Amino acid sequence: MSEQTIALRITRFNPQEDTEPTLQKFEVPYHDDWVVLDALNHVKEQMDGTLSYRWSCRMGVCGSCGMMVNGIPKLTCATFLRDYYPHEIRIEPLANFSVVRDLVIELDDFVGRIQAVKPWLIREEEPSIDQQGEYLQTPEELKEYKQFSNCINCALCYSACPVFGPDSEFLGPAALALAHRYNMDSRDHGEDQRKEVVGSEEGIWNCTFVGECSTVCPKEVDPAAAIQRTKVATTSAWFKSVLMPWGKP
Ligand code: FES
Repeated sequence: MSEQTIALRITRFNPQEDTEPTLQKFEVPYHDDWVVLDALNHVKEQMDGTLSYRWSCRMGVCGSCGMMVNGIPKLTCATFLRDYYPHEIRIEPLANFSVVRDLVIELDDFVGRIQAVKPWLIREEEPSIDQQGEYLQTPEELKEYKQFSNCINCALCYSACPVFGPDSEFLGPAALALAHRYNMDSRDHGEDQRKEVVGSEEGIWNCTFVGECSTVCPKEVDPAAAIQRTKVATTSAWFKSVLMPWGKP
């Protein structure tokens, strides 16, 4: 019996030689338990070693294998061929990003946006060496931010966001969800330091709450909810500052 196969159409683009991307067709073996990344690895190892794409963990943890699969942002290590078979699969680089080569996108700008919200614990005072230990937290306090700490920086949400694009100044879903994650952490005192960038035109107020970011998130982080909660918190803090300019009683 002849081997079952499935057709892939993969973006090829070498900026040093090509003026625009093209789609190249490959016929690869079909296996029920193969994910799209397995098929790409087959192409690279058996058919065309010049194909360029990123991946690392193959278990949905590192966030590096995001691509457009039939027009939807997906982790290719968690997307099975069986969900498309016998139809062909179109594999393209994540939308809204510049392309370095084939399926590899430019991530420097994305990383800069993440760093802009200072996604780390900021303390009013760092403990002295002899005080160092753990910052204890109750399960209730952990629950406040845990969901938002599941982000793996895969950038799928930026690819789905209708506001974000190569020319956009919008900080974007993952950065704003991370800001919320740290602002909600009982061990953190950095909300004031994040406020300027998070509450700016390029921050939460740029989000139109379409919610595609949350739909495509492979870790159920729900950036749209994080942004809406930050909008509510920012508005309520502003009202308090107007009604009680002297601060907390
Ligand atoms: Fe790490 Fe897919 S290879 S998330």
